[in-house]
Amino acid sequence: MKTVLVSGGTSTLGRAICTRFVEEGYTVYCAYASSKEKATSFAASLGPSLIPLHLDVQDQQSIAQGCAHLQSLDVLVNNSGVFSVFPTEELEETEWQRIFDVNVTGMFRLTKQVLPLLRQARGNIINIASINALHPGFGGTTCYDASKGAVVSYTKALAAELAPEVRVNAVAPGLIAAPYLDKDHPLRQLYEKRALLSQLIEPDQVAQVVSFLNGCCAMTAQVITVDCGYLAG
Ligand SMILES: NC(=O)c1ccc[n+]([C@@H]2O[C@H](COP(=O)([O-])OP(=O)(O)OC[C@H]3O[C@@H](n4cnc5c(N)ncnc54)[C@H](OP(=O)(O)O)[C@@H]3O)[C@@H](O)[C@H]2O)c1
Repeated sequence: MKTVLVSGGTSTLGRAICTRFVEEGYTVYCAYASSKEKATSFAASLGPSLIPLHLDVQDQQSIAQGCAHLQSLDVLVNNSGVFSVFPTEELEETEWQRIFDVNVTGMFRLTKQVLPLLRQARGNIINIASINALHPGFGGTTCYDASKGAVVSYTKALAAELAPEVRVNAVAPGLIAAPYLDKDHPLRQLYEKRALLSQLIEPDQVAQVVSFLNGCCAMTAQVITVDCGYLAG
């Protein structure tokens, strides 16, 4: 049976990605850092193909311990990510480092740890970037935007380095629908006003593209935007 590891597997997007891979018959390692209870109840709802795994991408020991459970790996989805909003004058260097440590260095740490298994399986990696990597800041998001820009560059450089054994692609989602974004939320209204399709992106619509990239063996070093036409609006 094929195996996938999804970091941040209990997040809004992580759940959709895990669910899709379970539906496709994969054994899914759903990695969590702090959300143990969410991971346990998610596993209970999806059945034995979903296996919760504790893995903090900021902690090399936690990564090594979590990955020690893996005997093989076909797909790595680097989905963990943190976000915050501070104008530059109020952005502390410690916060800059935290965002980069999770979004960029954490991606590197986890990728390095599982690379021998991915090489063995001639597998593939899908990194979750953001349209913020491609779009001038929404205001106060310089650090997040720069971190996601680094994810895009890392994806392309890694794809060149690992070819032809391992493919590496990225998905750059726009604003993903979540319970806190009710129809009156200003961010949602701003997004829907500009997006050509006048809507937010459903988590499973991003998961669909992750699944497509996993299946399409002709694709590497690509960044696919899933934004309901926001960037073109
Ligand atoms: N939501 C959006 O509109 C949007 C748009 C574009 C791109 N994205 C990207 O899509 C990805 C998922 O976003 P989301 O909104 O679904 O996430 P989210 O709900 O905000 O959750 C963040 C996830 O990151 C994990 N995480 C945080 N610190 C971690 C660490 N040190 N080690 C391992 N995992 C850690 C969390 O795990 P625990 O809860 O277990 O701590 C959680 O699963 C992120 O990379 C995000 O930047 C999101």
